[in-house]
Amino acid sequence: MAHTDQQEVAAQSGNFKIGGDLEVNRLGFGSMRLTGEGIWGEPEDPAECRRVLERAVEQGVNFIDTADSYGPDVAERLIAEALHPYRDDLVIATKAGLTRSGPNEWEPNGRPEHIRQACEGSLKRLKLERIDLYQLHRIDRNVPVEESLGAMTELQSEGKIRHIGLSEVTVEQLEHAQGITAIVSVQNRFNLADRSAEDVLEVCERDGLGFIPWFPLETGSLAGAGGPLAEAAERHGSAPAQLALAWLLHRSPVVLPIPGTSSVEHLEENLAAAAIELSDDEVRELEQAAD
Ligand SMILES: NC(=O)c1ccc[n+]([C@@H]2O[C@H](COP(=O)([O-])OP(=O)(O)OC[C@H]3O[C@@H](n4cnc5c(N)ncnc54)[C@H](OP(=O)(O)O)[C@@H]3O)[C@@H](O)[C@H]2O)c1
Repeated sequence: MAHTDQQEVAAQSGNFKIGGDLEVNRLGFGSMRLTGEGIWGEPEDPAECRRVLERAVEQGVNFIDTADSYGPDVAERLIAEALHPYRDDLVIATKAGLTRSGPNEWEPNGRPEHIRQACEGSLKRLKLERIDLYQLHRIDRNVPVEESLGAMTELQSEGKIRHIGLSEVTVEQLEHAQGITAIVSVQNRFNLADRSAEDVLEVCERDGLGFIPWFPLETGSLAGAGGPLAEAAERHGSAPAQLALAWLLHRSPVVLPIPGTSSVEHLEENLAAAAIELSDDEVRELEQAAD
């Protein structure tokens, strides 16, 4: 494929303007898997992880999700190593609000001083002057959300972040936060097999917010040969992972899936889902298969 055609791969998923001004191709990339076991430490094959990032951008991905807590620090550092200086159209979304003490250990910390410090760290590691989308990773129940979002609003007025997003929230929490400051996106767990965040997605549609479904492949369980989508995929001539992603893209124009992988092969398979069109019958069939 010629270079320009390669850029079309992710572009086929359509585009969305985050916060009304940051245009991205809807099918993005999640960087959480570019770390060691338990999202802790260095990945097994850092060179392959850098190739995954380079290939993603080559194939038109211009929306990459990360967080200071992935590694911690590792995913953000790899993104800068592989991609800096960045293409003008690349939007990197990072997060603050979780700290780490070991593999699979995550503790919320929404204190304003922590958020400010985390932002400085992310700016440095990502080699950015401003973070395009800064997401509060979790609402800390020990800290009033007004204080966590207050720190983010201050960072915004200082020019260190552009837009503010949330992660893992209920409709009530989202609407409360919208009363405090402008929220442009929500990142919640959502996939073909777990559609419990439908109500949050509907608010995002109503208000024009980006909805970023994490766990789009259920850690690959929707993608497996014996998984629930295998039969439908065989009939469709696609891989199960591709159908899971095509379903998300079909679900709503505000959905911005960020499948994660540490392998170039899986990345290419996932991005090819951008070209798949599903009929209403196929959508119903997939939902039944996943249920
Ligand atoms: N906001 C939050 O609280 C939150 C929580 C979790 C994740 N996230 C974000 O969401 C992104 C995606 O979530 P996720 O990584 O948990 O779930 P995911 O993207 O659904 O699944 C990733 C897993 O699926 C495997 N995989 C990927 N493509 C595949 C394919 N084509 N065939 C077979 N297996 C495949 C990967 O293994 P290989 O590496 O072997 O391909 C990896 O283990 C993360 O990277 C992160 O940016 C956010």
